[in-house]
Amino acid sequence: MIKKFISKQKLSMRVKYLGKEISEHYKNESEIIILSILKGSFIFVADLVREIKTPCKLDFLIASSYQGKSSTGKIKLKSELNMDLKNKNILILEDIIDTGLSLNFIVNALKKKKPKSIKICTLLLKKEKHKFKHPIDFVGFEIEDEFVIGYGLDYNEEYRNLDYIGILK
Ligand code: IMP
Ligand code: MG
Repeated sequence: MIKKFISKQKLSMRVKYLGKEISEHYKNESEIIILSILKGSFIFVADLVREIKTPCKLDFLIASSYQGKSSTGKIKLKSELNMDLKNKNILILEDIIDTGLSLNFIVNALKKKKPKSIKICTLLLKKEKHKFKHPIDFVGFEIEDEFVIGYGLDYNEEYRNLDYIGILK
């Protein structure tokens, strides 16, 4: 059973606002490098980049630690990153931060590329649980510890196509 949680309209309003916040934050920068963490963030990124007014380049990282409803703890990172990240402003876009373990891993790997800055934007944050070691700069919604699907997020690869976010019961 799926319980409706965040409507299409609410998502759209919040994403617009995040785009404004991000554009304002980077207004004095000539460029940002947006790194989208696949697969879950693909819809969020598509909507959000169209609200960002700062010149930007986009690339994708593939990370997975989940099987079913829980993190396996082992993070696999598959990346085709060809861009030079030295002295660049990196903005990581995530769908959801749960334990934060995957993001910790990714941020530590990116730090080695000596960027000018690394900022994090996540659509959803499970605030109680996360063990993330770095500041989270832009947050769409703080949520309780529930398993959510839709708007890119899956349960065993299903439900990514929903235009709202639901709770899987
Ligand atoms: P973390 O490493 O525990 O923070 O989880 C990282 C990834 O697991 C997220 O980027 C999602 O792709 C996935 N994930 C975590 N929680 C959920 C959820 O409630 N629904 C769907 N995917 C989730
Ligand atoms: Mg993800």
